[in-house]
Parts: sequence; C-alpha cells; structure tokens
Amino acid sequence: METEKKRSEWSSKLGFILAYAGSAVGLGNIWKFPGKAYDGGGAAFIIIYLCIVVLIGCPLMISELTLGRAGKADALTVFKKLDRRFRWVGWFAIITPFIITCYYSQVGGYVIRYIIAYAKEPQAVYARPLNYFYEILGYTAETGESNFPWGAILCAFLFLSINAAVVMGGVKDGIERLNKVAMPMLLIILLVRLCVCLTLPGSGEGILFMVRPDFSNVTFSTFLNALGQAFYSLSLGMGITITYGSYLNEKENIPKNAMIVCGMDTMVALLAGFMIVPACFATMGAENIGKGASFAFASLAGVFEAIPGGRFVAILFYLLIFFAALTSCISLTETLVAYAEERLHIKRKAAVIILPLIFFAVGILYTCSQAAYDIKGIWADFATGLTFPCFGDSMEWICDRILTPVCALGVCVFVGWFWKPASAIREIEKDGSRFGLGKIFSFLVRFIAPAAILLILIVSLATGVSLG
Ligand code: TRP
Repeated sequence: METEKKRSEWSSKLGFILAYAGSAVGLGNIWKFPGKAYDGGGAAFIIIYLCIVVLIGCPLMISELTLGRAGKADALTVFKKLDRRFRWVGWFAIITPFIITCYYSQVGGYVIRYIIAYAKEPQAVYARPLNYFYEILGYTAETGESNFPWGAILCAFLFLSINAAVVMGGVKDGIERLNKVAMPMLLIILLVRLCVCLTLPGSGEGILFMVRPDFSNVTFSTFLNALGQAFYSLSLGMGITITYGSYLNEKENIPKNAMIVCGMDTMVALLAGFMIVPACFATMGAENIGKGASFAFASLAGVFEAIPGGRFVAILFYLLIFFAALTSCISLTETLVAYAEERLHIKRKAAVIILPLIFFAVGILYTCSQAAYDIKGIWADFATGLTFPCFGDSMEWICDRILTPVCALGVCVFVGWFWKPASAIREIEKDGSRFGLGKIFSFLVRFIAPAAILLILIVSLATGVSLG
C-alpha cells in the first residue's frame, strides 16, 4: 500500500516543473556557482559549464527521469527491477544526498545568521565584510582567536528544525505552494539586484572577467569543477532525479521538461554569477576576493551598503536564498527519510527526528573546520596519495569529484549500453509525441557523456588536480 501512495503523480505539468526547479535551484546556484566561476577564471568556466549542461547534464537528466518513469520506483528499486547488476548505482542515491545534506543545512544556517545580522547590525557587516563572515565561523581575523561558532551552529539547528517540521508535516501543500511564490520572486529580486550590481562603479573589470574568456588558466581541475557543479546544481548523478521521474505520468514530455528545468537552473546560476562577481570586483578589488563560501556572504555587503534601503534589500535577498535552500534541503531530507522508512523500517516520525540530528552532528564538524579549528578530512588521489585537507573541503570534493561522476557514469553506461537508448526512447514517446532529438540523445548518452565523465574522472585522480 505504501507504493500505491508513493507513486502518486504530479497534479500538473506546472506543479512538476516548479517542484523540480524548487529542488534544483538552491544554494548550488547562488552560493556555489559564483565562487566556482570566479575560481575557474570567469568566462572560460562559464563556457565549459554551459557545454557540460548541454552535452552531459541534459541527456543525463532525461535518462534519469526516463528510468524513474519506466521503473516507477526509487533508484535502488528501479535497478533491481531493470538490471540487478546496476544496483550499486542506487546506493549513491543514499550516500551522496546524506553527505550533501550535512553541509547544506549548515550553509542554510549561515543564511539565517545573515538575515539576523542585517536586521540587527548592518553597520558591523559593512565595516568588515570578510572578517564578519569569518567571525560567524568562529575565527576573529584581527586577533587570530578561535572560538566555537555558536551563532552559526544555532542557526543551522534552526534551519534543520524548520526543515524537519516541514518534512514531518508533508511537503506538497505547504512548501510547494510557497515555492510557486518564492521562485518567481527570487528571479525578480535577482534581476533587480543584477541591474544594481552591474551599474556599480568599478564593476566593469568584473563584467569583463565574466564575458572575456581566458583559457590560459584552464586545467583539468576546471573541467572537473564545472562537471561537479553542473551535477550538483541540477541534482544529477545521485539517483534523486530517478525518484522524481517515477512520479511523472505518461502524458508528460520528458525531454521538454528536462530542458526547461536545465534552462531555468542554469539561468539562475548565471544571474547570480553576474550579480556577485562584478560586485566583488567593484567593492573589494580582485585581489581581496575570498574563496568559496565567503562569496555570497561577504562580498555582497559593499553592494547593500551602496544602495538606498540596502539593509532591507539584504534581508529580502537572504530570505529568498533561505527559501531556495529550504526547498532543496527538504527534498534531500525527504529522500533519505523515505529510504529509512521503507528499507530500515524506521517510523517516519522517528526518522524525521533522528536523521536531522545526524546531519547536524556531522555538519558541526563542517562549520568548525572552515575557519575556527583545524579539523582534517581525508582525500586520496593517485598523484599525491593520501592527504588530509580541511574536513569541509573533503566532504564537498568527495561528492563533487568522485561520487556524483561515478554514479552519473553508471547511469549513462546503463542507459546507453545495457538498457539501450531505444528502450529509453520508447518510454519517452509514450506521451504520443516523437522524440525528434532521439538520435542525438543516444549518441550523447552512449559516447560523449560517459567518455567525458570517465576522462575527467581519471585524469583528475591520476594527476592530482590542484585542489582548492
Ligand atoms: N541542486 C541543489 C542546489 O543547487 C542541491 C542538490 C543537490 C539537491 N542534490 C540534490 C537538492 C537533490 C535536492 C535534491 O542547491
């Protein structure tokens, strides 16, 4: 009876697209993408990213959705039904979302912390944007002192509690309805903010950086980063999209839906990139730009300071990122809760309480390893052997650089060579339409996507790409 209930279908096309986009558009787009685009050299990274979305992301999304609809189940069960030899791919749908949720919820906490910061003391943020961020993470740059980051951790706890409360109460009515309002609002705010940022004095250099490709610094690491980022942002290579596809009815046009969601997700990422990177150049100068997380937090302070009513715009902005992050985190948590319920036979209520507590415990290590304490993670590749980078980095690298590419490769090889593109196309065409791009799709899933993923994976592990 569980399965009957679970296999409910999306009520409308718009319902599916918005729910799916709400899950895909999240911190990956606004928090991660701009930082990665900056590290990867701006325009060059963007071009590589776009190629990956079109040539690998989109066919993979179509494959995952189709697999889900054909198997009418979650990733593990789909492979059990279609081909047991590929069951291992299903396991990724548990491991990767687990690691991601642990740190996702922490960053969700930073977003709440910034809402509080702008409500309470915008001047303090403006005065020392980057150091304020470090202070939230427990490190006072001026004195070199480290403290336990209580503020950030408590906010993460709050974020996880809200997340758990919504998952407990059911996702559809509350959060999806909210999504329908929050997503368009997010877009409007982004556009307005984009105009403000692009007209800031001094942003010209940053805009050039984002549009004039310079391939001289492009390495395999750039490709791997772009690949990891594309999968992360589109929620691919984890088997989660398989579950989404299983809720689709046969009247839906899968390729069209996939293209719309890929397009929306990429557009939001680009808008965020064009908003944040030039603003960084304008307000802090290229040489002072921080890495990774500090991007979406510290670098925007100068912009808020420069515009009238900036404090309120800031609050609104972080509130919207909060909703984007929450909807994504809910869908991540929901997957894991469903597994705990169905496979481990844990009661839903218990799962919704226990799992977030585990996310929280691991997440604390993530936050503490950022700046306050020297907590090491683990990483290994063939060039440098075993190394011990910061715990937070190793969590992200393991997901972005190993787990997702391997899982995506499994999906491509399965659809391309075992299940065969013809079966996928037959499933896709059940809506009565003809899949005009079928030939291109087969070529991409059989050859281009797996070859590119394999090449990037091997070269990066073999050469020990410059990490960080
Ligand atoms: N795509 C989400 C983002 O950009 C993050 C994410 C990765 C995700 N995998 C997911 C969200 C699975 C929901 C389900 O922030």
